[in-house]
Amino acid sequence: MKYFIGNWKMFGVPNSIYILKKINTFCSKDKNRKKYRVIITPPFTLIEKFAKIFKDKKISIGSQNCYHKDPFSSNTSAVSPYMIKSVGAKYTLIGHSDNRNEGDNDHLLKSKVQFALKNKLKVIFCIGENKVEKKNKKTIVVLKKQLQNVLEKKFNKKDIIIAYEPIWSIGTGKLPTSLELKKTAIQIKKILKNIFKRKSPAVLYGGSVDEKSIKIFKEINEIDGFLIGGASKSSKKFIDIIKNYYR
Ligand code: PGA
Repeated sequence: MKYFIGNWKMFGVPNSIYILKKINTFCSKDKNRKKYRVIITPPFTLIEKFAKIFKDKKISIGSQNCYHKDPFSSNTSAVSPYMIKSVGAKYTLIGHSDNRNEGDNDHLLKSKVQFALKNKLKVIFCIGENKVEKKNKKTIVVLKKQLQNVLEKKFNKKDIIIAYEPIWSIGTGKLPTSLELKKTAIQIKKILKNIFKRKSPAVLYGGSVDEKSIKIFKEINEIDGFLIGGASKSSKKFIDIIKNYYR
């Protein structure tokens, strides 16, 4: 099973539902539809509406982040996994580099993962090295730390998806070579196998994935899907990504 996950970031109003409707129409007729799952993470404001409309459809809805305490607290602007689950989301992103940049450290991320899982949200846990770390050949060391400091054997690996997103690639059009990505994915899976003491959870790639770049990645069997930012805001681009992947 492959995953195509659209991360809308700070984008969308209620009318943007038309984008998902087009994607859903394509997916429900696609001859490859059994081979993949589509998840969209709109902003908090749209989760309830989207989750209601796409209940029992090809598209699942997730949040882009969650608070680390359960279920209510006095923290202004926070949204807990309990609240997210209650409006129909099935997934949540945790550890996106945008949030790590704003202060989400490993300790906090671990609490987020724990509370998300406790509230029956599946977790899409994002990891990735920055430009300097890559230049200094520290990629695997960094990824290993990000994984080991947060994930534990007792977490159900079926509820966790890993999204490898090199920070230098997010929104920049810069891509790892397919050989580079293959090697990194193999290493990530090795680390995950060690943590979970069995088969690795799914490992996705994210960073400048669009309808053109997807062609480079389709030969890499180790990659179980994609986390797509900018290109997921256009139904045509998102659909073309899926089409070109299976072409
Ligand atoms: P991008 O973003 O596809 O626009 O590079 C990916 C992400 O931040 O999840």
